[in-house]
Amino acid sequence: PAPGWTATTDVVVVGSGVAGLTVALSARQAGLRVTVVTKAMLDDGSTRWAQGGIAAALGEGDTPEQHLDDTLVAGAGLCDEDAVRALVTEGPDAVRHLIAAGATFDQDADGEILLTREGGHHRHRIVHAGGDATGAEISRALVAAVRSDPGLELIEHALVLDLLTDAAGHAAGLTLHVMGEGQRDGVGAIRARAVVLATGGMGQVFAATTNPAVSTGDGVALALRAGAEVTDLEFVQFHPTVMWLGPQAEGQQPLVSEAVRGEGAHLVDADGVRFMVGQHELNELAPRDIVAKAITRRMQARDAEHMYLDGRHFGAAMWRERFPTILASCLAHGIDPVNGLIPIVPAAHHASGGVSTDLRGRTTVPGLYACGEVACTGVHGANRLASNSLLEGLVFAERIAADLAERHAAGELPERSVDVAGARAARSVPLPAPEARAAIQHAMSRGAGVLRSAAGLARAADALAGLRAEAAAHAAAGKPADPRVETWEAANLLLVSQALVAAAARREETRGCHWREDFPDRDDAHWRRHLTTTLDAEGI
Ligand code: SIN
Repeated sequence: PAPGWTATTDVVVVGSGVAGLTVALSARQAGLRVTVVTKAMLDDGSTRWAQGGIAAALGEGDTPEQHLDDTLVAGAGLCDEDAVRALVTEGPDAVRHLIAAGATFDQDADGEILLTREGGHHRHRIVHAGGDATGAEISRALVAAVRSDPGLELIEHALVLDLLTDAAGHAAGLTLHVMGEGQRDGVGAIRARAVVLATGGMGQVFAATTNPAVSTGDGVALALRAGAEVTDLEFVQFHPTVMWLGPQAEGQQPLVSEAVRGEGAHLVDADGVRFMVGQHELNELAPRDIVAKAITRRMQARDAEHMYLDGRHFGAAMWRERFPTILASCLAHGIDPVNGLIPIVPAAHHASGGVSTDLRGRTTVPGLYACGEVACTGVHGANRLASNSLLEGLVFAERIAADLAERHAAGELPERSVDVAGARAARSVPLPAPEARAAIQHAMSRGAGVLRSAAGLARAADALAGLRAEAAAHAAAGKPADPRVETWEAANLLLVSQALVAAAARREETRGCHWREDFPDRDDAHWRRHLTTTLDAEGI
């Protein structure tokens, strides 16, 4: 359908996690009119679920240089060092800005911020809130700040569809589908001088993930359809420890923060053996890809469905005070971490790749920015260092806002002329039936999960192509699926899954969180390079 209503703003920000809301608040300070659109409620994205915290070199004896070193090691040769340098040097101030915006972090009796450790960090440098509820506190503070700015327009329950561009190919706004929001109901368009994607991740392409139901890769799909370049999609990080809830567990799984290991919990098998000891100098706190692989290998070797996390030595008081969220979630699932072991497995967690950006957050489409998990700024390389993602959202959001302010002041962001009435709501995408979502997730978990091979990836590619052909056949027969949120989400999941599988099949090596059974070694001679994807090149 053609857009039924139109609104106008200076900058439209898509997404309301740490990245989106920080861009919005900072751009407002620069005097820009900002509209934030978000698919569910303002705090329904991944930010709220973050437990561990934000990494920043704030501790005594710690330096940005050491944070940089740990980040580069985790990134397995594919980080952009300039991007990482920006991240780690601007990180401490970004945390201070967040505190100024109203966030409260855990402190000791002297008012010093408490810092913990996570995998891959050689220092205590993780800032946390409410014990293990860091994301919830950040979300609370940012949502309160945006709600108290009457000049900032918020549109909730709005699924973004496609980018609008002017005749010169510059971003000029977007089309979106708003559900039940009075005058702005149904498919509409927002005209803007610039567009910022902050839509978060794509964990929902897999059957089991730490990501909430809204993480369906919408920003990457929009960017691909708009002709933008995306990078490193194959590098999906699997978090080593989500609670194992049985073999059929699907959708968002309860996270057991890496901070639990940071505070000294052990990974053990059914015989109580600490299998990480001897595998890496940091034992249970090795970088995440190494721990997830070790757990998967041990599960295979023991023919076991899960491994265990042992935090019994913490005692009840520490569980209550330091990890109240995880304790409550364990108890809700009948698991007592004070007296027993927590069954755990790895699950899809974070997209290290995404829409390619430069250090100012600019994508390859003029006027289109990307920030946070949807972006590939180069800070994560082949494997993100724990707790660097909230930080990335903060640091690069401020960079984007600064770029927008500068360009606006220089007159480089004029109003754009765009044919809204002629815009198609979703560009020539055959919409799959809503049931395709589960079929996509199963194909992806079977063929493109922690352990990959050419044969498994080819099976996933075939299954995905079959779903696309089915959707196209229905459309050709005049029986297309209804254009609604579930079908558009399925279309996005299908598109990003196909792009991810294509990239994973191309990368014939094992590096970071991309683990190929048939190419078990890292191959710097051929593969110390990024893989970029554009829709035309992939022909998806
Ligand atoms: C965790 O708390 O383990 C998650 C931290 C992260 O993914 O950065």
